[in-house]
Amino acid sequence: MTCSIAPGKIILFGEHFVVKGAPAIGFAVSKYAKVCVEDGYFQVISKQTGNIEQGSVLYRAVKRLITYANSIFKCDEDVRILVDSEIPVGSGMGSSAALSVALAHAYLTHCNASFDKKLVNELAYEAEKEVHSKPSGIDNTLATFGGFLKYRSGVFEKLDIRLGDEVGFLVVNTNLKRQTGIIVEEVLRLYEKYHEVLENVYTAASVLVEKALKSLRERDYESIGRLMLLNHGLLWTIGVSHEINDLIVHKLVGKGCYGAKLSGAGRGGIVIGLVNKSLSTRIEEELRSEGFQVFRVNPDYEGVRSVEDN
Ligand code: MEV
Repeated sequence: MTCSIAPGKIILFGEHFVVKGAPAIGFAVSKYAKVCVEDGYFQVISKQTGNIEQGSVLYRAVKRLITYANSIFKCDEDVRILVDSEIPVGSGMGSSAALSVALAHAYLTHCNASFDKKLVNELAYEAEKEVHSKPSGIDNTLATFGGFLKYRSGVFEKLDIRLGDEVGFLVVNTNLKRQTGIIVEEVLRLYEKYHEVLENVYTAASVLVEKALKSLRERDYESIGRLMLLNHGLLWTIGVSHEINDLIVHKLVGKGCYGAKLSGAGRGGIVIGLVNKSLSTRIEEELRSEGFQVFRVNPDYEGVRSVEDN
């Protein structure tokens, strides 16, 4: 059996504003999707949900990827595919992209193809088109290459950022599910109606990202935290926060995080906090005792890779 893992992702700065051409920063995180491939009749089995039915989005995405790979290499299409993911689904953490990337890597390895990560990314993007109507490509690019990425108007730039081992990110899942497309549409309508006012907010969001890049490179955690709060405020201004997001931001900062913000589409989804690891366990335990679903992640700098089957 041939197995690969690929990381999920988190948007650190610039979501929503990116839709109108502002820059955004995302990074790969230490939560993984694992895919194993072995000889057998074609079947997709999820450790979490069992046999994946023909016609489901996941099944179609897997098929599309396999077909695309076979248009380049002659591989055996009769394979049994086992998927296992620890990335929360529908939370903006790139669960489907991580799965596609891990699948592309495991399948090409199983097939003894000579390939590079660029091809893995291309194959995964093909599968992503089955899942999201217009994927930006950021999720699969982060799952493939790992690390931090700046993106703006379809252009990705890998960043030479490496945070110290003393910090990590707390992720609080509100479990409020929302439809990204609808929120994005509403934000765009708000922008049209109040563009004289909001133009300045969008400019602030762009400047914020440039300042954040400097703070990230300098590992200035106080400044990164402050900029996360400012970013949360801007997201609130364009109407994508929710009282649960605001409450969690206050809790994370009140308990000692450098800063916190909603991440992704908003109106629920996840809230992230930058935390010094010396405080992390205490904050996690306190939040859990208050009923919140919380976990810690570190940036993943490696991206997709082979793993032993176990
Ligand atoms: C959603 O994870 C991120 C948004 O900026 C939408 C997008 O960039 O496509 C809200």
